Amino acid sequence: MSIIELEEVSKLYGFGDAANVALDEVSLAIEEGEFVAVMGPSGSGKSTLMNIIGLLDRPSHGKYSINGRAVAKLRPNQAAKYRRDTIGFIFQSFNLLPKLTALENVALPLAYKGMGLTRRTRQASDMLARVGLQHREYYYPWQLSGGQRQCIAIARALVNNPKLIIADEPTGNLDSAGSRLVMELLSEIHKAGNTILFVTHNPELTRYATRVVYMHDGSIVQDEKTKIGEVAKTVKRAMYNVPQTTVEDDLAGVSALMKAVPGSDEVQSATTKKTRKKQTTSRRKRGSS
Ligand SMILES: Nc1ncnc2c1ncn2[C@@H]1O[C@H](COP(=O)(O)OP(=O)(O)O)[C@@H](O)[C@H]1O
Ligand SMILES: [Mg+2]
Repeated sequence: MSIIELEEVSKLYGFGDAANVALDEVSLAIEEGEFVAVMGPSGSGKSTLMNIIGLLDRPSHGKYSINGRAVAKLRPNQAAKYRRDTIGFIFQSFNLLPKLTALENVALPLAYKGMGLTRRTRQASDMLARVGLQHREYYYPWQLSGGQRQCIAIARALVNNPKLIIADEPTGNLDSAGSRLVMELLSEIHKAGNTILFVTHNPELTRYATRVVYMHDGSIVQDEKTKIGEVAKTVKRAMYNVPQTTVEDDLAGVSALMKAVPGSDEVQSATTKKTRKKQTTSRRKRGSS
């Protein structure tokens, strides 16, 4: 069973002539354990999709089921409870409370749930250790690097033990070291059995994903399964303009390699002849000019 199932989900903002279609009949199924990167230009509907999947927003049309439950049938307070227990959110801007320590920030969702101080402090402390920041428990957000702040936000998202993690541009405000820190952490969380969706503009980060979904104008225009450790083919082609190789290209590659390997007399003499011919031609050219 899919953990997430969207059937022709649309989201419209405004009415009549001024209506803006943020999502246009999107159908998407995500299985448990997938690590999905969502890419696409600004305004293509990525955040709208994340917010609907994360129960922060409702579709205007279409059907959405999470863990087999139709979201439309949940009352608002049921949806809020379901969200709290099942989904962890991570945002580009970290959204940490500046007057609370790292430990207090991480413990906050447990406080909302009504858990006592001792228990929630212990649980938050364990979670900070899990993200490698046990030595920063009493630091305030402004005393930490961007990458560390985002790791604290991740610890806060994980403290309720959600099955699904939704991260909307989690590395959008981070340098490459911070991005790597955050992605390695998400990777570990994925290996521990969680389902993760993240929005990114950085093709390099598709290396972490098992699947890449591309959006444009409120639609999914491409959906690609990828190997962990490899940049998705579509972004590679689009962003780096690397042409797709054919069998002929691959064979040409092999023969070029053979020529470069010394030892095969036949290949070598053929190459030497060619080189000599080239040299004589260029000499002749130079002579005539
Ligand atoms: N609250 C809103 N009110 C009106 N329009 C919105 C609102 N949120 C998003 N939109 C519009 O919906 C479209 C998709 O936005 P969004 O999902 O934020 O895109 P992305 O995250 O890919 O940049 C955009 O045209 C945006 O202007
Ligand atoms: Mg967005």
